[in-house]
This record gives sequence, structure tokens and C-alpha cells, in this order.
Amino acid sequence: MRGGRAAGKPARPRGELARMCEGPARRKVGIVGFGQLGQYLVRRLQDEGSRHGLELAFVWNRDVQKLQGQVPASLQLPDLCGFPERGVDLVVEVAHPCIARDHGELFLSGADFMVGSPTALADQATETRLREAAQRGGHTLYVPRGALWGGEDIQRMDDRGMLQGLKVTMIKHPDSFRLEGALRERLRAAWGRRVLLYEGPVRDLCPLAPNNVNTMAAACMAAPGLGFDGVRGCLIADPGLPDWHVVEVEVTGPAGEHGDQAFTVTSSRRNPASPGAVTGAATFPSFWSSLLACQGHGGHVRLC
Ligand SMILES: NC(=O)c1ccc[n+]([C@@H]2O[C@H](COP(=O)([O-])OP(=O)(O)OC[C@H]3O[C@@H](n4cnc5c(N)ncnc54)[C@H](O)[C@@H]3O)[C@@H](O)[C@H]2O)c1
Repeated sequence: MRGGRAAGKPARPRGELARMCEGPARRKVGIVGFGQLGQYLVRRLQDEGSRHGLELAFVWNRDVQKLQGQVPASLQLPDLCGFPERGVDLVVEVAHPCIARDHGELFLSGADFMVGSPTALADQATETRLREAAQRGGHTLYVPRGALWGGEDIQRMDDRGMLQGLKVTMIKHPDSFRLEGALRERLRAAWGRRVLLYEGPVRDLCPLAPNNVNTMAAACMAAPGLGFDGVRGCLIADPGLPDWHVVEVEVTGPAGEHGDQAFTVTSSRRNPASPGAVTGAATFPSFWSSLLACQGHGGHVRLC
């Protein structure tokens, strides 16, 4: 008997044999943005992606020069519209909220999409378009939890209709803010003093601090019953916090039988951050864990 094949057993098709030799197919990942987070994720994918069944399929950056010498030419994607030709399973955006607004729908037509800048979803039209695109294409819109603690618990309360209030407070050193419009002026006027920059619905805050309140946006997506209009955000600049970002989450549920005591959970997270850094240190491994959780969950929106 040649080749060790049992008599009477049909030969395996060549494709199947090849797949068995190669092991299970790897999930192909495209990274959009090559700043701090993008470089970190690319490095981890290159170093240990295969161990997790992942393969780096492309990297895109607005300024292509930044990729030279860092990313093999074959993995550089010159134009985002060329994304379908790379046949990826997952696109990870770590660039700017405008990417989800302008290209999110295209990504979701052919792949799962992890939106690293979920402040983009504070624009109602963008959120609606991406939710519909996920449903239509059967691909998942993933929202990384970032520095949000207890996201799944919030989601479960929201699912059961028990979530009555959600407030996220973020406190950072003034150098860690990248603000727009009125908030930038308020910060400048109060320079050197602790100041409450904003308190109100997260929807109005996102365009004014798009790089600083992604965690609040993740909370809004975890609690669609409240959404961007119902979840409250509070942003504080504190010069006494040179190397920490503080994120406090206050959850309120139903009152007890006698109506006097409401269910509440409050968490406080202190995330070490280099002086002036927009992104805290713990956010990098948090993003990697989020990416690993993007295994394809059908046409849904999912916290990861
Ligand atoms: N979800 C979270 O908790 C969380 C945490 C940190 C950062 N972020 C977001 O992730 C993104 C990347 O963060 P980072 O720390 O790597 O930032 P970074 O500034 O280090 O890198 C951003 C990259 O995107 C590119 N870019 C900037 N503006 C762009 C635009 N308008 N169009 C296309 N590309 C643009 C830059 O060239 C750069 O390569 C930011 O949007 C940031 O707000 C989210």
C-alpha cells in the first residue's frame, strides 16, 4: 500500500490535505492608523499573532512615510478603498474618529470592524449607519472598552431594562487634553487650577474632546437604552495628577421596595500615564485583549 493510505479509503482532496498541514486558517487583520496604538498592535501581531491564530494583512496610515522601514512594503495599504482586495477578517481603526464616519460602512461590508475611536459614534447618523451595516453584512461592530470598568455588567443591566443612570467622570492633567472650541478656552482660562471642564450628556462632549473621552463613548455603546444622550460625562482637569488618569463610573439601578434606597455601583480606576500622555499605559494591553476578543460574532454591536 503506497503512501500509507488504507485500502478502499478515498484520497483526500489536495486542498483539504494542504489545510491540515498548515493548521487552521488564521484570521487576517488590517490596522488603520500607525500612531502609538497602531505601532503597538502591529508589533504584537508580528511577534505573537500566529500564536493567537492571527495574521497581519495590512497597515494603513494617512502619512505613508511613517510606514517606511517599519512595515514590509507588501503589507502597506496605500489607499483605504483598496481594503476589499486584502480579504481581511477584521479591520482595527486606531487613527481618528473620521475613519469610522467615512469608511466604517465599507469595512463592515466585508469584515468585522473594531472602532478604536468610538467618539465617532456620538454622531447619530454614523452610529445608525454602522449598526445597519453590521446587521446587513453579518459582520460585527466591535467597541473596545478602553478604560471602562464593568462594561459587561452595565450591558447586562441595560439588557434587562434595569439601568437607570450612568455617569463617567474622567480626571487628567491639563497637558493630557486635546480639546476643541469652548473647552479649549475653558482649560486655557483656568491654567494651573483644577477645573470642571464639562458636565452633561456625552453626545455633546465627544466633538469637543474626541481623543479624550473614548471610554465615555464605550459606556454609551454598552448602555444603548441610555445612549449618548442619557449617559452623563464629567471632564475635569487637575494639575495635581501629573502621571495618572482617573476614570470613575457611577451606575444607578432601580430603587428598593420602599423606594428610599437605589441600587448603585461606583468604581474608580487609576491608570498610570506618562506626563502629558493622552493614552494611559494600561490602555495598550487593554486594546490587545480587545483585538483578541474580536472573533466574529455575526451582525451585532459588541463591547470587546
Ligand atoms: N478607545 C479608547 O479607549 C482609546 C484610547 C486611546 C486612544 N484612542 C483613540 O485611538 C486613536 C489612536 O490613538 P493613538 O494614541 O495611537 O494616537 P496617535 O496620535 O499616536 O496616532 C494617530 C494616528 O492616526 C493618524 N491620524 C491622525 N489624524 C488623522 C486623520 N484625520 N485621518 C487619518 N489619520 C489620522 C496619525 O497620522 C497617526 O498615525 C485616536 O483616535 C484616539 O482617540 C482610543
